Formats: sequence, C-alpha cells, structure tokens
Amino acid sequence: MRVLGIETSCDETGVAVYDKKDGLLANQLASQFKLHAEYGGVVPELASRDHVRKIIPLIQATLKEANLASADINAVAYTAGPGLVGALLVGAIVGRALAFAWNVPSVPVHHMEGHLLAVMMLEGNLPTFPCVALLVSGGHTQLISVTGIGQYKLLGESMDDAAGEAFDKTAKLLGLNYPGGALLSKIAQQGVVNRFTFPRPMTDRPGLDFSFSGLKTFAANTIRSNSSDNQTCADIALAFEEAVVDTLVIKCKRALEQTGFKNLVIAGGVSANCRLRDKLTTMMRKRGENVFYACPKFCTDNGAMIACAGMVRLKNSADWGLSVKVRPRWSLTELPTI
Ligand code: KG4
Ligand code: ZN
Repeated sequence: MRVLGIETSCDETGVAVYDKKDGLLANQLASQFKLHAEYGGVVPELASRDHVRKIIPLIQATLKEANLASADINAVAYTAGPGLVGALLVGAIVGRALAFAWNVPSVPVHHMEGHLLAVMMLEGNLPTFPCVALLVSGGHTQLISVTGIGQYKLLGESMDDAAGEAFDKTAKLLGLNYPGGALLSKIAQQGVVNRFTFPRPMTDRPGLDFSFSGLKTFAANTIRSNSSDNQTCADIALAFEEAVVDTLVIKCKRALEQTGFKNLVIAGGVSANCRLRDKLTTMMRKRGENVFYACPKFCTDNGAMIACAGMVRLKNSADWGLSVKVRPRWSLTELPTI
C-alpha cells in the first residue's frame, strides 16, 4: 500500500510517497521563502500561484525519485486544512483530480495531525499513547491530550500569536529575513546570557494557555532602547528565545502533571528549535519520562507527514464525495477517532 502525500497549506509545496511496509520512498520539497522574503511574511496570493507552478513537476519528480509509475499509487492524501484557503485549494484540486484519474481513494488530511503523526511514523517510533502533544508552528501553539489517533482534547493554546509567529516577527524586528525562526535561533548562539531578561508570559497564573504577542512588543522596546550592533542583536535574540522556550517547557510540565501522562510529543516547525528540544529532553530525563520529536526536516512543513497521516486515515477520513472542499479553520478535536 503506497500513499502519495501533497502539502500546500502555506509556503512550502511538499510531495512524498509513503509505503506501509518500506516507509518513506520519496520526499520532494519546493520552498517559497525567497518569494516572500522581500515582504517579510507570506503573501497568500503569491503562495497559491507558486503552488500552481510547482505542484505537477514536483509530483513527477517524486514518482521518479521513488521509481514508481502512477499505477503503483494506491491513494492520494492532501492537506485539506487548516491553512491559507487559496494554497489549500491547489493541493486539494490536484489531489482529488489525480485520485479520480487514477481511480484510487483521496484522503483529506488535517495539517496538524500530519505534524503529530510524522513524529511517530517517520522516526520509526510506534505511537505511544496516552501522551501530551505540544504542537508549535507558525500558525498554532497548542497543548493536546492524545489518548489515541483521533482522540484529541485541547488542554491549552495561544490567546494571540503562535510561537513560530512570535519568532518570525521578532526576527523581522532584528532585521532578519523571513521566516526568521531558525535564523534568530542561529544568532542567539552568539548571545551573552542574562544581558537582557524577557518575561515568561502567563506562567505566574494557573492554566495551560499561552500569550506570545507581548514578547514581541518587549523585543521591539528593547531593540529601540539599545544600539543595533551584532552583539546586541544576538543578546536580544537569546533573551527572546529563552523566554519562549522556558514558557513552553513550564506549560508542558504542567500539562504532564495535570494529565498524569508520561510521554510528550513535540511537533511543528518550532519543534526544530535546538534549545527547546534540549530543555524538554533534560526535563523529561529528570522525570524519567519520554519525549519524542521528528528530525528537523520533518518538523517544518513537508509532504511526507501528509502521506503518513493519509495512510493512517485511509479508512477513516471525512467522505466529501466528489466535491473539492478545504477547511482553512479546522480544529484537531473535530477529527473522528480511529
Ligand atoms: O510547521 P511549519 O513549517 O509551518 C506551519 O504550519 O506554520 O512552522 C513554521 C514555523 C515558522 O514560524 C518558523 O520560523 C518556525 O516554524 N521555525 C523555527 C525554527 N525552525 C522553524 N522557530 C524557532 N527555531 C527554529 N529552529
Ligand atoms: Zn505546519
């Protein structure tokens, strides 16, 4: 059984083939970051147009990489949401059309379930339930109780900016290119510890919700009242990164204590952050508990995670008939249990 996965929810066109027995057979990615860099953020219309340009050649390249013909594909999975509506529609239309032409099922996949399942399937780790999942991307910061596939309960989420969004906005203030999360993290490595101290938002009160927009304002004020030399930028980047990471770690610990679960999964683009991975690993080791995350290339958006989730959801996805439907807003908790 082989699933072709298509990801077009935002600014990466991703296509992959996942085989139930042999795992990932091919994985192709076309990133649009250069296209959006001069605007400092994703321009939805440009994103959709670039997906249109890239998707068919990328599908062809993926089949070639896997040494497969279209007749070898048993299902086509595509990201149906959440994400940018125009961008989602490109993947959905192509995915549905190919599935129809090849006479195989098409599987609408929830982007965040893709991130979550990728950790388990692409890393060869069997699903470990129950677990707490920290989903941290450019659009989401959520803590989820996961008791099985499709058994998701929202424990907490960001009231304003997602963690990745806060990284990107602060990076922009520091003069870094979009998307700035990884770049900010890189310059933070040269930062002097404790030169600046940023707040850990919403950690002084109970609960599992987050708020990151204040950190961006704090960064803007700190930048304004200091010189803009490289060392100062690195020191501010470090202080910001430490504040975001500490806040995420504190809330993960709280979620584990609240649920009594002993497994933690981190997924989404920000889970590529080394400081976050290190701090969570240290905390979980001290607790004698387990933390799971994907290798960095599968943390950010990719087609492999959609192919994997499509494999899992093959017999249990929404039946949307022949219509092409996408869900720009779509809660993980609405998914059916498997
Ligand atoms: O999951 P993803 O690729 O796309 C969405 O679904 O949003 O996540 C992208 C986000 C961006 O905000 C990006 O800056 C952030 O993940 N990111 C990072 C790192 N790598 C990617 N943030 C902090 N540190 C990183 N190393
Ligand atoms: Zn994502």
